[in-house]
Amino acid sequence: MKIGVFDSGFGGLTILQNIRQVLPEYDYLYLGDSARAPYGTRSFEVIYEYTLQAVRYLEAQGCRLIIIACNTASAKALRTIQQRDINPDQLRVLGVIRPTVEAVTTNTLNSRHIGILATPGTVSSGSYLIELEKLDPHLEVSQQACPMWVPLIENNEIDSPAMDYYIKKYVDLLFVKDPEIDTIILACTHYPLIKDKIEAYLNSKLPPSDALLECADAPLNLISQGAIVANSLRDYLNRHSEIERELSRGGQCAYLTTDIADKFEASASLFLSEPIHANQIELV
Ligand code: DGL
Repeated sequence: MKIGVFDSGFGGLTILQNIRQVLPEYDYLYLGDSARAPYGTRSFEVIYEYTLQAVRYLEAQGCRLIIIACNTASAKALRTIQQRDINPDQLRVLGVIRPTVEAVTTNTLNSRHIGILATPGTVSSGSYLIELEKLDPHLEVSQQACPMWVPLIENNEIDSPAMDYYIKKYVDLLFVKDPEIDTIILACTHYPLIKDKIEAYLNSKLPPSDALLECADAPLNLISQGAIVANSLRDYLNRHSEIERELSRGGQCAYLTTDIADKFEASASLFLSEPIHANQIELV
């Protein structure tokens, strides 16, 4: 049995890559709904319908454990799917928001002012606000929707001036909401692909003495989800030996896309730094 990993497009590959580093022995089936990405600007009903189609497809391929490696789908569709559409004895579907919030509230020392950068769908769902409030009611949390980031990433425009323009625009808007932000969550699985650029822009805003986001006493933490989700999945499998026992161990990954396979292969290979083979499928 393979572990299914789903995203609206390429973003989930950032999660898959981290999962395969932590859990290299298992087999994976990645599905990117690139033909219908971005999800972030779509309605609740549409995101739910598309996500359920993807879950059903991966289930039909034999996946009994599926990671929704997409914040927008986790925010808008996961709970309904878990509560209404699946039988947990036959299928487990996990998301990315809860593990991220748990890691941030337990590991990020001295964080009091948190900034969320996410798709309009994730922001309007309020999922991060609700989950963070549950774990730590004393946090100040501000959100900024970044509607142009995923379309630019999906269209290979990461190195374009437009990308730089929209990074500056959304980061600046976030700090207008709260100039004291000390922790930023990249709450979309596409955003690690532009993390270097966001980091460079943040560094350019800081005084030179502070301009090292990675150092231990850094004034600002920039958090992406890959390692967090990977470690959370490892812990989950440790707790659920009945699922872990059923996973196949070939260390392989197959890729599915709803868009033209060549296009997905070219973009994914660039990002994964190795050639991949993808098959085009239709979700209905
Ligand atoms: N990468 C996804 C997320 O984490 C979805 C982006 C989109 O399709 O808008 O939100």
